[in-house]
Amino acid sequence: MAEIHRVGIIGAGAMGAGIAQVCAQAGLSVMLYDAVGGAAQACIERLAGVFDTLVDKRKMSPQQRQQALANLQVGQALAQLGDCQLIIEAIVEKLDAKQRLFTELEQIVAPECILASNTSSLSITAIAAPCQHPSRVAGLHFFNPVALMKVVEVIDGLHTDPAVGERLMALVSRLGHQPVRSRDTPGFIINHAGRAYGTEALALLGERVAPVAVIDCILRESMGFRMGPFELFDLTALDVSHPVMESIYQQYYHDPRYRPSVITRQRLEAGQLGRKSGEGFYRYPRPEASAEAPVTLAEPGDRPAVWVGADDPADLALLVAWLQALGLQLDRAATPAAGSLCLLAPYGRDATGAALAFGTDPRRTLCIDMLPGLDRHRTLMCTPVTDARLLTFALAAFAQDGVGVSLIEDSLGFVCQRVMAAIVNLACEIAQQGVASPAHIDQAVRLGLGYPQGPLSWGDQLGAKRVLMILQRMVDTAHDPRYRPSPWLRRRALLDVSLSHERAAGL
Ligand SMILES: NC(=O)c1ccc[n+]([C@@H]2O[C@H](COP(=O)([O-])OP(=O)(O)OC[C@H]3O[C@@H](n4cnc5c(N)ncnc54)[C@H](O)[C@@H]3O)[C@@H](O)[C@H]2O)c1
Repeated sequence: MAEIHRVGIIGAGAMGAGIAQVCAQAGLSVMLYDAVGGAAQACIERLAGVFDTLVDKRKMSPQQRQQALANLQVGQALAQLGDCQLIIEAIVEKLDAKQRLFTELEQIVAPECILASNTSSLSITAIAAPCQHPSRVAGLHFFNPVALMKVVEVIDGLHTDPAVGERLMALVSRLGHQPVRSRDTPGFIINHAGRAYGTEALALLGERVAPVAVIDCILRESMGFRMGPFELFDLTALDVSHPVMESIYQQYYHDPRYRPSVITRQRLEAGQLGRKSGEGFYRYPRPEASAEAPVTLAEPGDRPAVWVGADDPADLALLVAWLQALGLQLDRAATPAAGSLCLLAPYGRDATGAALAFGTDPRRTLCIDMLPGLDRHRTLMCTPVTDARLLTFALAAFAQDGVGVSLIEDSLGFVCQRVMAAIVNLACEIAQQGVASPAHIDQAVRLGLGYPQGPLSWGDQLGAKRVLMILQRMVDTAHDPRYRPSPWLRRRALLDVSLSHERAAGL
């Protein structure tokens, strides 16, 4: 099959413009068409301005600018796209409009011309259904802003010829982007994998485990997410993100894994969309965070000894060494003394359940999340009856070395354990469903969602057995099938192999 050189782009809006830019910069000849007269021309003029800026910033030479501009042409009518080898549509997100466009294009282009859709939420198979040759229809899902978002999903519909996908994969690489191959399923890879972070954070908020700013802080500081989930909701705006959550939930026939939240629906109805409406989970402009007065450590005589219990013996050793380094007195008896603070490190339990499991007094029990380790940010969780003086002591004592500490209400699996288990479990489910290969799932999520690591390799690093334990205990206690472990995770954790492990093809 000949390499693709002539591309037609239909729809000169935000996405069409970005796709035209990267194609023209990669040396492809681009014809841009928009149903609105003058829109394609205006788009090329805007791109000339973008190229000027790139030249000013020395990211492009004047010759490259000239060449890229020469590669862009306006199509005055659809019929002018007849000699294109690939058409990428980026028109309005409506199934009937895309179907009509593709059936019309089939009358214009050569039989081997590929018809690609940039849809984010429609089924490629459905778009291709009325076409004479659905085998030439595929998804080519760029992200906004196209030049900066370096990942593109290549989506095979039910009838797509695998060779079409191969050619698109090669093309995306020539654009300098990372292609990832996805089966035609709701949300493809990235919008599917992205469901876990926000929906689990909303579940935590709904249970009043912690306020918005605390949940955001814990996830940013402990796990290295660039933005907390609520900061992200405010950036994307709820009129965009809530319908995506609803749509994926509907498309998966109400699978509780994807259950959206009444919180975002109500806020959407109230117009609290996020940054663009001036108020979302935060008010904008956001005031500078006021430094809270540090909690002071009680007099030495009042300081309780700390008794430690952990689900994982490795955590026990870490906690003992850390508490000693902080200069705190340890209670090393088999059962805690009456006055000791009982510090527990459970996985997938709440503080109440942990107190029962370790046989500690819930009034003197406090839990610490060891999933993120002790170095970046620490999350403490109390039972509903933990003594306030012990909390004050712990908040001061455990921050003595300058590491931030957050306190949350009782919750199965803290904040990080719940959110990370949800992210890893969903990625495993995507692998289980064969939506994409493990390597492509990791690449897609890293580049498309900006997570510090791909979810499968992250799961390996956090420990697949731990993640399984968190989920299993959550299901056993909460009886919510939302947390049921994916078979992909369960099998790999039990067999002690990587979450990226796939059985080699063939017998
Ligand atoms: N905006 C995003 O963040 C984003 C990200 C990924 C994918 N997408 C998808 O890309 C597509 C385009 O989104 P957008 O944000 O660029 O939209 P947009 O509204 O900015 O642009 C759409 C353009 O298509 C033109 N158009 C509409 N119907 C047409 C038709 N039948 N023939 C020719 N031109 C037509 C419109 O005049 C408009 O210029 C949608 O399918 C959307 O779901 C959007």
